[in-house]
Amino acid sequence: MKKSAGSDTLMTCLTVLSVAACVVSLYQSGVKTIKDSRKVSSISEITVPEVPQISTSRPYNVISAEEWSSYYPEIYTSHMKNGENTGNTDGRTAYTETDPYISTLYQGIGFAFDYTEAIGHSYTLDDIAKTERPHKLANCLTCKTPDFTALVNELGPEAYSMDFEEVQAMVSEPVSCYNCHENTPGTLVLTHDYMARAVSDDIEAGKVDPANAACAQCHIEYYFRPDTKQTDVPYTGPENMDPDSILAFYNEMGFVDFTNENTGVGMIKVQHPEFETYTGAGSQHAGMYNCADCHMGVAYDKKGYPYVNHEFTSPLDNPELLASNCSMCHSDLKSQVRAIQEEITARETEVGMLLVELNSKLAEAVASGQLSEEELEELRMLDRSAQFYWDFVYVENSEGAHNSALSRECLNKAEDLANQALTKL
Ligand code: HEC
Ligand code: HEC
Ligand code: HEC
Ligand code: HEC
Repeated sequence: MKKSAGSDTLMTCLTVLSVAACVVSLYQSGVKTIKDSRKVSSISEITVPEVPQISTSRPYNVISAEEWSSYYPEIYTSHMKNGENTGNTDGRTAYTETDPYISTLYQGIGFAFDYTEAIGHSYTLDDIAKTERPHKLANCLTCKTPDFTALVNELGPEAYSMDFEEVQAMVSEPVSCYNCHENTPGTLVLTHDYMARAVSDDIEAGKVDPANAACAQCHIEYYFRPDTKQTDVPYTGPENMDPDSILAFYNEMGFVDFTNENTGVGMIKVQHPEFETYTGAGSQHAGMYNCADCHMGVAYDKKGYPYVNHEFTSPLDNPELLASNCSMCHSDLKSQVRAIQEEITARETEVGMLLVELNSKLAEAVASGQLSEEELEELRMLDRSAQFYWDFVYVENSEGAHNSALSRECLNKAEDLANQALTKL
């Protein structure tokens, strides 16, 4: 029941002499309490606390999450909750089992026999220690630990080509504060050199959101430069970050990640292009929300003060965010997202199977020796391009939710290119 004025409420309070009840009813009657005034509607309204001056004895001066924990207890606790993200309820999905066709498409690279779903940030170093995919060089540690990020910043790009085991023995902190803030929590700093090169100017010009860039240090398509083995991105900024330009870039430099043994096609292995997909053409929300708005969100400490939640969750698992924000426009976001994901996953399988058919027909044609080098070259190019567009969607972690229009477009292109090749076989 809504009261018209605060005075009745005050009377009730005096009568029942219950402090708690007073606070509740004063709040309901519209009198602003202190707690009410602390409510914020987005991350950008949160005041960043002053950074305490602390030092560390850890290598390369990387202050660890634990060393910050007493200064930012809530943020630290939410950061540690990433350890609870260990995959879906039936255990961690092994794509090699759910999608057996990838053993054909990825033949010639480790993902053909070891490819499991991504889990929380706490596990980056455990996972790289366990993977059966071969890793020779330290560049594999690019997105796993701030200790390596700091090593690169200290030694320069030579660090990328150091021996994997040698560097692995020197690192211990999984993805943490330093990756996104250096040693100044609250300020976003691009610590990864390739991302700083690609988007620093665009951030200054207001074309790239700093929180998107923070995640883009790892949630992107990248490659190892063939000459120096350093990690780099196949674009110079948002102007050529779309799948067509990325493919053109790789084609121009003749870049090959692995060669399919059956067909001799030099393939590109795409890696988790969340940044390129979410901010790409067709995105419904790119101008409205950044990665942190949907995957971090606002939380409140015991006193009611807001802070940025550092547990990186699905927005569908963040009831506070859904209620305060998304529900303004979405009545049932969960069903909407699941419908998109089902549609895109079904198309991935359909086009994936078509690529398997192409792989086997092309392998037969190669083995028969009937085709001219020119004909083969054309078919190989079609196969390489088709698989690139398919992979751009297959390895993207939102399964279509970030930008369903772009996902559909890429899968259609992949299908079309595969069919063009099949009609020639
Ligand atoms: C320094 C690299 C790095 C940065 C920066 C980074 N991530 Fe990650 N992230 C990873 C890696 C690596 C994994 C996969 C870990 C694994 O499977 O062992 C991951 C996993 C995740 C997952 C879990 C995936 C799943 O399917 O459950 C989410 C969600 C996520 N990151 C969101 C973000 C967001 C949002 C940002 C930016 C605010 C961000 N990440 C910044 C490296 C990074
Ligand atoms: C408009 C909200 C929104 C924004 C902004 C957004 N995402 Fe997502 N993201 C989603 C949704 C929805 C899913 C699917 C979640 C699910 O399946 O439960 C998802 C899934 C993911 C996943 C897989 C983890 C998971 O829980 O399934 C990662 C990793 C990820 N996003 C990273 C990013 C990065 C990096 C950015 C910024 C470049 C970003 N997202 C921006 C909504 C968003
Ligand atoms: C993957 C990137 C990432 C990591 C890792 C990370 N942060 Fe943040 N942090 C952010 C983003 C994004 C924001 C939002 C700031 C913005 O949008 O300007 C933020 C905001 C903050 C703020 C200011 C807001 C507030 O609630 O006070 C503090 C302080 C902070 N982080 C501390 C930490 C600490 C301490 C750690 C390690 C335990 C950490 N962060 C790890 C990305 C990260
Ligand atoms: C101002 C209205 C509005 C708000 C608020 C809003 N959305 Fe949306 N959202 C839309 C519209 C419009 C579309 C496109 C039409 C559709 O698919 O419903 C959309 C589509 C989406 C999609 C599908 C994207 C795709 O490419 O198919 C996701 C995922 C999504 N929204 C997540 C969120 C999340 C998470 C929030 C809260 C953080 C949110 N939205 C808040 C209006 C909104």
